[in-house]
Amino acid sequence: MAKPKLSFICQNCGSVTARWQGKCESCGEWNTIVEENSAGGIGGGPQGASRRRGRPSALLPLSGEMEEAPRIISKIDELDRALGGGIVRGSAILIGGDPGIGKSTLLMQAAAALSRNGHSVVYVSGEEAVAQVRLRAQRLKAADTDVQLMAETNVEDILATLAEARRPDLVIIDSIQTLWSDMADSAPGTVTQVRAGVQAMVRFAKASGAAVILVGHVTKEGQIAGPRVVEHMVDAVLYFEGEGGHHYRILRTVKNRFGPTDEIGVFEMGDLGLREVQNPSELFLGERNEKAPGAAVFAGMEGTRPVLVEIQALVAPSALGTPRRAVLGWDQPRLAMVLAVLEAHCGVRLGQHDVYLNVAGGFRISEPAADLAVAAALVSSLSGAPLPSDCVYFGEISLSGSVRPVAHAAQRLKEAEKLGFRQAVLPSAPADMPRSRDMSGFEVEALPDLVARVAV
Ligand code: TYD
Ligand code: MG
Repeated sequence: MAKPKLSFICQNCGSVTARWQGKCESCGEWNTIVEENSAGGIGGGPQGASRRRGRPSALLPLSGEMEEAPRIISKIDELDRALGGGIVRGSAILIGGDPGIGKSTLLMQAAAALSRNGHSVVYVSGEEAVAQVRLRAQRLKAADTDVQLMAETNVEDILATLAEARRPDLVIIDSIQTLWSDMADSAPGTVTQVRAGVQAMVRFAKASGAAVILVGHVTKEGQIAGPRVVEHMVDAVLYFEGEGGHHYRILRTVKNRFGPTDEIGVFEMGDLGLREVQNPSELFLGERNEKAPGAAVFAGMEGTRPVLVEIQALVAPSALGTPRRAVLGWDQPRLAMVLAVLEAHCGVRLGQHDVYLNVAGGFRISEPAADLAVAAALVSSLSGAPLPSDCVYFGEISLSGSVRPVAHAAQRLKEAEKLGFRQAVLPSAPADMPRSRDMSGFEVEALPDLVARVAV
């Protein structure tokens, strides 16, 4: 008998080491390395199984016409948009997120919606018993649909059952961490098992043409393998995020072989499950205190959609030798850069001040276009003068202090106008940009222009 092959695998990033270590060299996490028996390997089939030879096919079908990837539409717009316009048949999609964030809720609602549109959906739950899933479905008013439920964790059993079922359009696996395969020897939840299970499901998706959605819990402790170890195996990766204390949830696409990756879907969690938020700006601007200094509204873009959020800054004299810089929802090095440009080119001295920056509502911004709004909030907080409440800001600041144009200026202005804003501070815009009579634009070429306007 062959000696079982032991390896040490990081449960966070999946890297393999020769011996046990306290800290993973590859991802830097502590206590994530676990000894696993990888005999048989991933996808290792029985010895001597007959081999089928593949047949190459032409890149373009002879008929010439290129087809769009066929998609199934859930009619939950926020979900379809995040996926790039619906679920592509035959694709494998991973949805990751913290436990309790609402992944099962989202997918049960999606399953019900698809089933109502005439698609056959199988929901495989490895975490909850069928009765529990039914209870949730009742609460979500999804119980009257034809969604097929299955409480199963063994991949071979799942595949055998699926082969007998009416050909499904969509299979939901909740979650990958409960999957285990006969082919791998390790315990369920380890990297080897999670990979083997996901690989079998991806193969099923490609072979059967059914879409497969895989749920993965994000784990901080590294006791079970996280979604990161299988991200490269699937066609699309989405993360479901939310802030403690807030009811809204954001579905963010980080990888998509069939669509853009900067789209988000916004939902609100309520007693009856997740509700779509069609206009996120209203949500993020909901609790605005318009008279407070240090708050600036940023007209941002998330994918194809404009989103307005409030940026709050607090600047206070520091009692410490090294002043504090704390950022929530934005990039720390980016804040350091804006502070340096304010100091070097505008004479705004913040070296002896603590600086706190917060994006309201727990939203996260990754666009450099927020630079101008951040600068406005900082200067307003320092001077104690509130900014006009009907004004939005956007523009990228360069190290030389000039303000650079950003994409989608017209769309940002349109959204601001729709929400009742009447002024915008923005980079100099091309003359042919459509403008509205109700909205006055103040074009700034360099940061000192903004500072002169804000600091009254
Ligand atoms: P769940 O979908 O089970 O999370 P996950 O699958 O990501 O672990 O969601 C669990 C949380 O959502 C739980 O704290 C209760 C809450 N919830 C509601 O607020 N309303 C609802 O209608 C449902 C079904 C859940
Ligand atoms: Mg769940």
